[in-house]
Amino acid sequence: MNRDEALSRMETLKEAILYHNRRYYQLDAPEITDADYDQLLRKLIDLETEYPDLATPDSPTQRVGAPPLEKFGAVAHLTPMLSLANAFSDEEIREFDRRCRRFLEDEKTISYIVEPKLDGLAVNLLYERGALTVGLTRGDGHIGEDITLNLRTIPTIPLIIPRPENAAPTAETKTPSVPERIEVRGEVCMERKAFRNLNRRRAEEEAPPFANPRNAAAGSLRQLDSRITARRPLTMFCYAIGTAEGAFFRTHAEVLRTLAAWGFRVNPLIRPAVDIEECIQHYHRIGGLREQLPYDIDGIVIKVDELALQERLGAVSRSPRWAVACKFAAIQGQTVIEDIIVQVGRTGVLTPVAIMRPVRIGGVMVSRATLHNQDEIDRKDIRTGDTVVIQRAGDVIPEVVEVVKTLRTGAERPFVMPETCPECNSRVVRSKGEAAHRCIGIACPAQIREHIAHFVSRGALDIEGLGEKMVAQLVAGGLIGDPADIFFLTKEKLLGLERTADKSASNLLAAIGRAKKPPLDRLIFALGIRHVGEQTAKRLADTHVTLDALAAATFEELQTIRDIGPEVAASIAGFFREPVNLHVLDKLCRAGVVPQETVRPKAAPLAGKSFVFTGTLGRMGRSEAKALVQSLGGKVDNSVTKTTHYVVAGEAAGSKLEKAGRSGIAILDEEGFFALTGGDEN
Ligand code: IVH
Repeated sequence: MNRDEALSRMETLKEAILYHNRRYYQLDAPEITDADYDQLLRKLIDLETEYPDLATPDSPTQRVGAPPLEKFGAVAHLTPMLSLANAFSDEEIREFDRRCRRFLEDEKTISYIVEPKLDGLAVNLLYERGALTVGLTRGDGHIGEDITLNLRTIPTIPLIIPRPENAAPTAETKTPSVPERIEVRGEVCMERKAFRNLNRRRAEEEAPPFANPRNAAAGSLRQLDSRITARRPLTMFCYAIGTAEGAFFRTHAEVLRTLAAWGFRVNPLIRPAVDIEECIQHYHRIGGLREQLPYDIDGIVIKVDELALQERLGAVSRSPRWAVACKFAAIQGQTVIEDIIVQVGRTGVLTPVAIMRPVRIGGVMVSRATLHNQDEIDRKDIRTGDTVVIQRAGDVIPEVVEVVKTLRTGAERPFVMPETCPECNSRVVRSKGEAAHRCIGIACPAQIREHIAHFVSRGALDIEGLGEKMVAQLVAGGLIGDPADIFFLTKEKLLGLERTADKSASNLLAAIGRAKKPPLDRLIFALGIRHVGEQTAKRLADTHVTLDALAAATFEELQTIRDIGPEVAASIAGFFREPVNLHVLDKLCRAGVVPQETVRPKAAPLAGKSFVFTGTLGRMGRSEAKALVQSLGGKVDNSVTKTTHYVVAGEAAGSKLEKAGRSGIAILDEEGFFALTGGDEN
């Protein structure tokens, strides 16, 4: 490659990297794998190394990520947030160690800290005199987006750094005092189980699912309404500090221990290593644990332990010389799409599913992947017969990452959604503004089947022995046509089915009998009202003590309930106006199904915490705020004392605020207070 060719190649690479940065960082919709992205960046770095005079200050290698979106405020980090150089093999890890030692000249062996590389979103928390004041995304590394309100809702992020006497003891001789200003950094993630539950709830409420936990965490942090973030199960692992005024640390291990003592979540798999060979052992050990961990990791990070050495090593362009990210191989595989079938869900939504030649990915055989909807298929240009890259992130449902277009033969067939329902031949329609195609058949057996299967499922009436297969059999045999019919089943009817013995028929009837007194919220959820998932059903059961009361509620009245907007209210009101639904409810009643009032123990997340209010709150009066604290198990005092945990400062706060500031008590502004009291829904 000559100079001119190199220049034009560099331009192309830059453009591609900027484009993918935007897809990844701003739109949360990456188009290529991390490995492919890393390769693009690597090529550019190589060319810039070969032709240093062609490297420009605006090159993406000089900036980490992409500029922030406009909707959140933009705030500068006190110390820039760097990115990490990558290593992909044991040899490259050894090379990192050699580079460090060459640079330091006098150092014989260097001790390191090995950490899992968490697959979430990097954030920076600024604490001033112990109080969390600003929380930022990484942004371009220099300027981040101000997502303070959202971060405050995450339970594992301390709102204050406790004074030494309240901090957990550490191995150090003395617990560090609260620094004047300190930036605490780490990764916000969603654990896999929480991610699966979130997606299940979203499916029930007909919201599109998130592709993986990282996207779910990113989408949740980017909410302009922090109340939505508060309901998302996010967590944060801390692994670094930035600017730290009034704090001194000698080693990275000491930093981590102190963060843990202050109440930050620090990953339990972090280990010291006496030399690079021990780091490599940890790399393989943690790699072996990867599949079992409750959260996604995509590698490990090796960091020089001694901070003075880190200082001497410094940074080159976008990454420090004292750390390296060692990536694991992506859990991906290639296979062929043999067919694309269409499944009909409870609400008539048609979902295309890829049937693939079985392939082993990360120890699991994969043969199906949801393709979501027609738009998604068009965007990725997926055709029957295509060779595709399949990815499993942890134990998440496999997804089609991309089509290997170079392997196309021309025989591939594009997918078009059928015009009639594959189950009942009714017309299929797509409403304006919706990604989904729906079957409009009122008697569609697939919808009836799914509807009943939902009614008896675990979060709903939970009838043991009524799995999807059994429901399908009962519907196909004409024994049931709606959820209420279940309660009119008899032994004679069941014995007419194939492979149903006397014993199992009795067991099933007993289970059905037990389901006649469901908690009200479960029955509401079981009805399958559009947009009413488990959470909303609980809320409705709390506000309307009986099903009749709920059925009588007006559209306007429903909207006064917390978290219920016009769309959900219309769906509920509409459900109870529909004669077919009223008929089923009436049948349930005749069958003797009587919902029980829900009695749940009151959550007491603020038990043992005492609050003092000062100034005026904008959103509610003092007595209302007091009642809110008390309802969550907390206590409200009139004056600030040694036992006060939080001072809530509204407009025109007075001397109590000053006193709190002097004694280092946590100060909450109005938003902080609502994040604390309204964040946890249950
Ligand atoms: S240290 C200068 N430690 O990886 C050091 N980063 O490519 C900055 N990450 O932006 C980061 N786990 O989002 C560090 N234990 C860990 C990490 C970690 C995940 C992410 C972080 C960072 C990216 C670097």
